[in-house]
Amino acid sequence: MNITDKNNTIGAVVAELPKATEIFKEYGIDYCCGGHRLLANVIKEQNLSGDEIYAKLQQAEEERRNSYSGQENNFKEMSPEVLSAYIEDTHHGYLRKALPEIADLLNIVLRAHGKNHKELFDVYRLFGKLKADLEQHLVKEETLVFPIVGVAEEDLKEIKELTHEIITEHEAAGEILGELRSITKDYQLPADACGTFAKAYEKLEEMEQDLHQHIHLENNILLVQYSDR
Ligand SMILES: [Fe+2]
Ligand SMILES: [Fe+2]
Repeated sequence: MNITDKNNTIGAVVAELPKATEIFKEYGIDYCCGGHRLLANVIKEQNLSGDEIYAKLQQAEEERRNSYSGQENNFKEMSPEVLSAYIEDTHHGYLRKALPEIADLLNIVLRAHGKNHKELFDVYRLFGKLKADLEQHLVKEETLVFPIVGVAEEDLKEIKELTHEIITEHEAAGEILGELRSITKDYQLPADACGTFAKAYEKLEEMEQDLHQHIHLENNILLVQYSDR
């Protein structure tokens, strides 16, 4: 998304660029309960300088992108700050787009094919659980874990407890992915599957791949020093 698009809501900007919360705080812009409002409108209503705010948003976005560009294959060399920013941009960003897309597709597929393919009811239910679990998980990482990872000397006990929780949640997500795989017989399409059906399974497999890499980076690199397993 274009961070300076005039049609962006405040909530969409924060979801894309969590650092925006600092900028909004500075200008007294309510990004929580007022997150559904268009940023452009709020700037006008509160008589703020749009040029200034958009310039700061752009700068924050650029800083984050520059912080890890060119280091993609060097995850172990990255500082915890840079690696967590990378994970947030790449994998959390991916999930925030993919989860609602897949939910919509599965809803259509369930209606059209559920009668002849009863397993789709389980696919729908399991995916719904995975989606809800992951949505809270991403926020937990972004608000509780990433800000103290690497600077956690004083919060060592806290980060260790959080790491335990995070890894347990990864395992739960992994289990759901496994169940989805077995119910769908490795995402095999039935003979009467339509294009939407195919697209839904394709997206589910893509999400599984992305999630595996995502969890690998968190479990085995970012949080490995705090893990008790
Ligand atoms: Fe994550
Ligand atoms: Fe995670």
